[in-house]
Amino acid sequence: MSKLTPPLPKFLRPAPPRPGEDNGAGHNGDAAPSRGEKLREDATEKTAQVVGWLDERSNLSPLLRANLYRKVPKGTNWFYTLGSATLFAFVSQAVTGVFLAMYYEPDTARAYESAAYITNEVFLGELVRGMHKWGSTVMIILIFLHLARTFLFGAYKYPREIQWIIGVVLLVLTLAMGLTGYLLPFDQRSFWATTVAVNLNASAPIIGPYLADFMRGGAEFGAASLSRFYALHMLLIPGLIAALIGAHLYLVAKLGTTAPPWLKPEKKSLNSEGI
Ligand code: HEM
Repeated sequence: MSKLTPPLPKFLRPAPPRPGEDNGAGHNGDAAPSRGEKLREDATEKTAQVVGWLDERSNLSPLLRANLYRKVPKGTNWFYTLGSATLFAFVSQAVTGVFLAMYYEPDTARAYESAAYITNEVFLGELVRGMHKWGSTVMIILIFLHLARTFLFGAYKYPREIQWIIGVVLLVLTLAMGLTGYLLPFDQRSFWATTVAVNLNASAPIIGPYLADFMRGGAEFGAASLSRFYALHMLLIPGLIAALIGAHLYLVAKLGTTAPPWLKPEKKSLNSEGI
């Protein structure tokens, strides 16, 4: 094994022999290691070799170790899981979205039928479509709860301002996912709700009419609008969200998380002049 191979993690190390038991290495008696012990040792050795091979080329173990053994502030509690829960909701949306995209057709003549086909004909289609539909609501609820947690715990303050700003952009993009996705089933409700939403955007000062034209892909709502919403919904916005989540998590790893406000910071010791 190479010199760079990291020490085996605890869970991969063979258990020490119990008193009076053979340790499998011949030190504690003459009996050879049993077949089970040999297999376990071989598996451990092979795993260590694979890990060592990867680490020698990627040098990832210091990074992994720094993150896995990172100290978390005192008082960390369930509220701190809301960010990871939002991340899980996003991953679930991405996975179910890929399966939906295998059958959905962003064509004004076919969109409604293809969505109905997913629900009625495709194996587990109704489940996957339901997960995607309800998952979008779950993600929006979770992102607001996470925002409330970080706001109430004062986590937006120095040095985490960039994290907060990225968070605000993530919130806007998540809402934009909801808007662009709503049109895709192309039934009466989705068509008219999106028309109203686009008209609302059009009423914004200065940029409003341009924004509405961009969303519609022209002056009228039609085929161009549907393919535009589809491209935004499955390519551009999720790509941006994924990249920004990466930056957001990098900052979490770099700066750590804020301790809850009810924990008073430890008093700094004063010097002889009382400063
Ligand atoms: C896709 C959306 C988001 C994901 C996946 C996400 C993920 C995370 C995760 C995993 C953490 C660390 C654990 C935790 O504190 O919960 C975190 C921390 C943080 N997030 Fe988010 N987040 C998202 C959106 C937002 C939004 C909308 C805001 C605020 C506008 C925000 C602001 C913050 C801040 C300030 C921290 C640092 C918390 C601290 O220092 O205690 N995030 N985020």
